[in-house]
Amino acid sequence: MEKNTEKFIIKKALPLSGDVRISGSKNAALPILAATLLTDRGVTLENVPALSDIEDMLTLLSGFGAKISRSTKAISIGCEQIENRVPDHNVTKKIRASFLLAGALLGRFGKCSLPMPGGCGIGLRPVDLHLKGFSAMGADISMEHGLVSISAPYLHGAGIYLDFPSVGATENIMLAAALAQGVTFIYNCATEPEIVELADFINLMGGFVEGAGTDSIAVHGVPFLRGCSCRISPDRIEAGTYMLMAAAVKDSDVCIKNVVPQHLSPVIHKLTETGVQIVTGDNFIRVNSNGLIKNTDIKTLPYPGFPTDMQAQFMALMTTGRGSGIVKETVFENRFMYVSELNRMGADIKIDGRSAVVNGVRHLSGTDVKATDLRAGAALIIAALMADGKTEIGEIHHIDRGYENIEEKLKKIGVEIERVREN
Ligand code: UD1
Repeated sequence: MEKNTEKFIIKKALPLSGDVRISGSKNAALPILAATLLTDRGVTLENVPALSDIEDMLTLLSGFGAKISRSTKAISIGCEQIENRVPDHNVTKKIRASFLLAGALLGRFGKCSLPMPGGCGIGLRPVDLHLKGFSAMGADISMEHGLVSISAPYLHGAGIYLDFPSVGATENIMLAAALAQGVTFIYNCATEPEIVELADFINLMGGFVEGAGTDSIAVHGVPFLRGCSCRISPDRIEAGTYMLMAAAVKDSDVCIKNVVPQHLSPVIHKLTETGVQIVTGDNFIRVNSNGLIKNTDIKTLPYPGFPTDMQAQFMALMTTGRGSGIVKETVFENRFMYVSELNRMGADIKIDGRSAVVNGVRHLSGTDVKATDLRAGAALIIAALMADGKTEIGEIHHIDRGYENIEEKLKKIGVEIERVREN
């Protein structure tokens, strides 16, 4: 999985059929991995996906002295002897979730220094809300030479209102508050399933978090946390991506297994509006498509709204749909970078600020394109399944950040995909 040296070659797909088994959630696993720093006892995690983002987080934990062992089923992490040193910037800059180590280290040691996370391919992504939370809890914050140093000799509960329900800020504040003195209230917090999963994990360790999944959370600080075992839930964005792949190819019949259908409610509703047939059960979603997509409008929003992490894939689906549709991105300011790549394949998409107008075209044609970020890469795969001929997708290290065993899973449902080294 070396950077920039591999590409996917994908042929126009025949009808897709069979099962896809969804892996553990990347975005649930990352904050839980950071949370293992809150206890000096062992933690065992099952169903952690094998992804480069997860490897990067484990590398950062090892850098602090965490003992990590793996079996085929689980990863065990022991944070008994931890050195509160500055993590390696070469790794922190690869994953923005590395900033969640701030809350965990602050909770455990009352201070930390981390490289300031930069912007990325989808926007500026500041951390002002994270820092506002720490500061309300008694932390002093300084920034010098690209490092943010946070110090709170007495970390205490506070009432914190988030100007935007940021997922990362909610998680970081929960992590810091778990071992703080008193109660921390987070108002207008994120309500994503990953927030509930982090709260459940902290509670499994003996913490006391209430209200996760609603727009205000109370974190009652406890004196210490203990070890535990937990299983990471299925990745809703991976599941949604395979749903859209099935929807994109005429006469497909694909069953997405090991999912929580409620977590995909907006995707299920919007896909149904396009005319795709969807049947859900306790832990599966079956998608039947006649390939005739009726274009619709989507607007990304915090959960339970339509996920920004599904925006690019939905836009790809709409490129060959009937009529026009408007895609409005309200969460990130720069999440249309991949549109020029879809247009190079023959799509007709016009961008106006935070909106994109998609005019359905009769067909796409395969060519060389580049993944500009993780979900953009997934969108290009969807486009490649529909495009005449073959599509070569470069920069697939972005895709490897978030889709476990993607070639095997795609081959199993009938996709002709090959990973080759770029010259
Ligand atoms: C997480 C997810 C990411 C998803 C996003 C929104 C992980 C590892 N990543 O990212 O896949 O796309 O939620 O669902 O879970 N913001 C501020 N100030 C802050 C923090 C955020 O202005 O201090 C802004 C961001 O720039 C962005 C918006 O809030 O425009 C949403 O960001 P946030 O919810 O924090 O996303 P992440 O936690 O980074």
